[in-house]
Amino acid sequence: MGSTKLISLLKILCMSFISRKQKVKSVLLAFLASFLLIQVYRPEIPYQPTSKGDIDVPKDVKAILKRSCYDCHSNQTNLKWFDQVAPAYWLVADHVRQGKAGLNFSEWDQLPVAAQKAKLWELFNQIKLGAMPIKSYELMHPNAKLSGKDIDVIKNYISSLAPKQAPDSAKIAVFEKQYKECTLKRKHQGKISRSP
Ligand code: HEC
Repeated sequence: MGSTKLISLLKILCMSFISRKQKVKSVLLAFLASFLLIQVYRPEIPYQPTSKGDIDVPKDVKAILKRSCYDCHSNQTNLKWFDQVAPAYWLVADHVRQGKAGLNFSEWDQLPVAAQKAKLWELFNQIKLGAMPIKSYELMHPNAKLSGKDIDVIKNYISSLAPKQAPDSAKIAVFEKQYKECTLKRKHQGKISRSP
């Protein structure tokens, strides 16, 4: 191979290398540009630092709800920086919108008491089934994961709201007492007819 041929071959190699590098560069630039462009679309997530209508529960229960649920189920959404970057942000914003539509701890006082109780049981079921907090959220926010102890705290609180029912044995004792008194009275009045 002559030296002129070798040089021209090197030239061609060099050219193709440069153009490949440029191609990669332009693809990266296109990515960057579209990444920056999509940041422009930001559905709003309203934030209120405090709320009068907030759910009134014991401190330990509230701490759990705040840590695991408030980002999507209250007016106090507190997003991490990585939640704020589109396209992740779009998913989060949609979760917050849907989550708040079904359950908003910041507007708890707007629910009638019976509905509050029903929501609490529903909430407990969602937790127990592992449906809430949403798995993808839990993955990015390990702090939101509920431990067995957290679930017990919530369960104990909700059970404490149920009206205390007398156990059946107590009901039976009352019934027997009334029955005895009644038959005694009737005996006195001589109205009990003995079976032959
Ligand atoms: C990342 C956002 C997110 C987090 C965090 C989250 N949820 Fe949800 N939640 C949603 C979305 C979205 C829905 C509605 C769609 C669905 O049911 O999957 C929902 C629905 C619910 C519902 C049903 C409401 C209804 O009646 O429509 C309950 C109850 C609930 N969540 C409880 C909880 C509890 C309790 C926690 C905390 C332990 C929690 N969620 C954490 C997003 C979230």
